[in-house]
Amino acid sequence: MSQALQHLFGIGQLSREQIEYLIDMGESFVELSRRPIKKAPTLRGKTVINLFFENSTRTRTSFEIAGKRLSADVINISASTSATSKGESLLDTGETLAAMQPHVLVIRHSLAGTCEFLADFLPHTSIVNAGDGAHEHPTQILTDLLTLKTQADGYQGKTVTIVGDIAHSRVARSHLLAAQKLGYKIRLVAPKTLLPSHVRQYGCEVFHDFDAAIPGSDVLYMLRVQSERLTDNCAFPSIREYHEAYGLNRKRLAQAGDNCVVMHPGPMNRGVEIASDVADSARSRILDQVEHGVAIRMAVLTALCGAAPEPEKLSPKKEKAAAAMQAQGKLL
Ligand code: NCD
Repeated sequence: MSQALQHLFGIGQLSREQIEYLIDMGESFVELSRRPIKKAPTLRGKTVINLFFENSTRTRTSFEIAGKRLSADVINISASTSATSKGESLLDTGETLAAMQPHVLVIRHSLAGTCEFLADFLPHTSIVNAGDGAHEHPTQILTDLLTLKTQADGYQGKTVTIVGDIAHSRVARSHLLAAQKLGYKIRLVAPKTLLPSHVRQYGCEVFHDFDAAIPGSDVLYMLRVQSERLTDNCAFPSIREYHEAYGLNRKRLAQAGDNCVVMHPGPMNRGVEIASDVADSARSRILDQVEHGVAIRMAVLTALCGAAPEPEKLSPKKEKAAAAMQAQGKLL
């Protein structure tokens, strides 16, 4: 079953077919970025506004590059340069931007649910969630899945071990939702202070001892400690102790199977959750994730703008999902 939707709020709203459709489309866009002339006319005449209320390097830049490579007009606004810093409400900012008739509004905000809230008031604008609080980060997960598909022998049946600040991670939450739909397993590793008990409802395995979780893992997926969301800063005694217990170093990586890869959504804090030599090792897929982030955002913008390519090579299931998306002229 696939429902045609106008927005991309989270992995939770997507069917398996829709997720696979976006990953396949993303894969077809990887090559465009490797060409000497990185331009296609797919989104000519479309306007994309990136509205970021939280800091970002990869997500914001990759949405911008994705739109520009597909010939859309892309405008970037950050909290410090928007009128919210003069006291304007989020809703007024959203309505003001929507009145300028963009096709897509890409939003990052520290509050969970911001995108859905705005969508109720902006009926003619497609909204993409580029990360809302500790809620969801759908394009990061699509990026990771494309990386697993192309650089790590797929995700089906694999065990992805996510280590670190689970409590504040929208990435971990979106992976838990995706794993249930796509048939991969999640192990969560964190100190008790950074691992809320409700995560067990997703059917994942939970560990507090990192070393115990390593054997059998196909991916060691490291997370940054989100100090900007830690209210009291006392989730663990010190950075040194955190690194000793939960940091990925050479010794730990040696306990993993030969095909186990290392991933991280970025930004990395070298020497905290990941040792520098591991981040730069042959097992690392971290820069592949960054490259695929552009391709996935191209796919998402294309689908949202109703400009999805003809799905001639897609399986019947995916064709059905694509047709449902195109029926409304917009994806998802
Ligand atoms: C993540 C995010 O913002 O949720 N990064 C990203 O988008 N690539 C993770 C993080 O900030 O630690």
